[in-house]
Amino acid sequence: MRPQITRLLVVFGVAIASLVVARHYLIPPTFGKLGHYRAAAVDTVAARKVKYAGHEVCALCHEAIAKSHGAHRHRNVACEVCHGAAAGHADAPTDIKPPAPRQRAACPLCHGYDPSRPTGFPQIDPVAHNPLKPCSTCHEPHAPETPRTPEDCSACHAEIARTKAVSHHAALPCTRCHETPQQHKINPTASLPTKPVKREFCGGCHAPGAPGAKEIQRVDMATHNERYVCWQCHYPHFPELK
Ligand code: HEC
Ligand code: HEC
Ligand code: HEC
Ligand code: HEC
Ligand code: HEC
Ligand code: HEC
Ligand code: HEC
Ligand code: HEC
Repeated sequence: MRPQITRLLVVFGVAIASLVVARHYLIPPTFGKLGHYRAAAVDTVAARKVKYAGHEVCALCHEAIAKSHGAHRHRNVACEVCHGAAAGHADAPTDIKPPAPRQRAACPLCHGYDPSRPTGFPQIDPVAHNPLKPCSTCHEPHAPETPRTPEDCSACHAEIARTKAVSHHAALPCTRCHETPQQHKINPTASLPTKPVKREFCGGCHAPGAPGAKEIQRVDMATHNERYVCWQCHYPHFPELK
């Protein structure tokens, strides 16, 4: 036999031998009993200590807080999201105490400005928004209503306001294009502002004969891309095209 074939046979022999050894000695005994996993894993996991109690349990002893919490805008943020896993505390309330996130850094985790969050999700700039004081001096964490109605659209639409501020439309107030009911600033989703729907709205300033400063660029409404609404090409909060 050629020596290279002998070597190959030895390699195969060793590989097969180790597989047989592994099958007999290394695979846990309950493997494969219920499927392609270790059947005893179910018991191992079930034997672990439960760390979360669930918010219904907290309500048994902290009735007033739970009631207030359930009636305000944090109602969908469970107690243990802020206070950490607290099953130990629920079992032995005076021995184990869950921490309360009093430091300023805790709230911007959800409320710090991030453009990927949905339009109007309550966001603030943690550096500029009433610095140094803990958030809970002004916002009760279990009833986090804003202390007063924000006056400016930018309180909730910061990205749009910042974009518009450096555009040719900087001088136009938001309400020139969006009729905004006062209620929108208190309960935004329940009463929405209007949005322009027709080309003629923009034509109100940009058509050749329209009133307004002569610096406003005019376009012929009948021929300037007449088949599309203007904001298909010009973002209204930053209308210039580069
Ligand atoms: C069996 C009753 C009971 C349950 C259930 C319970 N607590 Fe408490 N909790 C207490 C008592 C009593 C105290 C006051 C302890 C003290 O000050 O000695 C307390 C205190 C606290 C504190 C304040 C700790 C501090 O440092 O002041 C927090 C926060 C808290 N609980 C959160 C929770 C959360 C979250 C849950 C649900 C997972 C929960 N509790 C479930 C009885 C309970
Ligand atoms: C958004 C985060 C957040 C959520 C959700 C939350 N808490 Fe708190 N909780 C806090 C903060 C912050 C404090 C500290 C308030 C302070 O010291 O002014 C606190 C304080 C407490 C205290 C101490 C007593 C007090 O008023 O100082 C208890 C008890 C408590 N929370 C229970 C609960 C329970 C029960 C729930 C769920 C029904 C809950 N919390 C949900 C943030 C939260
Ligand atoms: C786990 C994410 C989360 C954390 C942490 C959190 N919040 Fe909230 N907060 C929310 C959600 C969700 C809403 C409701 C948004 C809605 O109704 O559209 C909300 C609403 C609010 C509002 C109401 C804004 C308005 O326009 O009326 C305030 C104020 C607020 N939170 C303050 C706080 C403070 C202070 C803390 C820290 C103690 C905190 N939040 C921590 C998720 C969070
Ligand atoms: C000195 C008081 C004060 C402190 C401290 C404070 N806020 Fe506010 N917050 C306000 C007021 C007043 C408003 C109403 C809107 C406005 O005028 O900016 C507000 C509005 C908000 C809003 C609503 C914005 C929206 O889009 O609806 C959120 C969320 C918020 N604050 C979170 C926080 C967080 C998080 C902290 C801590 C990092 C904090 N606040 C600290 C006074 C305060
Ligand atoms: C308290 C926070 C808040 C303030 C203040 C606020 N908005 Fe909004 N706005 C929202 C939220 C949240 C939405 C998203 C509603 C939705 O998608 O259901 C929204 C949506 C909108 C929309 C889109 C409506 C649609 O049909 O898609 C416009 C336009 C708008 N806001 C304009 C304004 C203008 C203009 C102002 C100032 C005069 C303003 N908003 C002030 C929270 C606010
Ligand atoms: C020149 C008119 C004009 C001005 C000024 C203007 N908008 Fe708009 N806005 C529009 C138009 C047109 C749309 C609809 C765009 C679409 O449907 O694609 C719109 C859409 C929106 C939307 C829906 C979400 C989005 O991004 O499309 C929001 C929110 C909004 N505007 C808020 C504001 C706020 C806040 C201001 C002031 C900072 C403002 N707008 C100023 C014309 C304007
Ligand atoms: C209330 C009047 C008014 C309305 C309504 C208006 N604009 Fe303007 N627009 C202006 C002014 C003012 C300028 C800046 C003129 C200048 O350069 O000084 C401008 C500039 C522009 C520019 C030129 C940017 C450049 O590159 O020079 C475009 C494009 C534009 N607007 C598109 C629109 C669109 C699209 C709409 C409708 C959603 C609209 N405008 C609605 C007043 C208006
Ligand atoms: C299909 C895309 C498209 C649509 C739709 C469109 N525009 Fe334009 N617009 C452009 C382009 C590209 C330019 C720059 C080249 C040019 O001057 O033709 C421009 C330029 C402009 C200018 C600047 C002209 C100047 O002299 O600097 C204004 C103002 C303007 N458009 C307003 C509008 C208005 C108002 C509407 C809706 C009635 C509209 N546009 C619809 C693509 C479009």
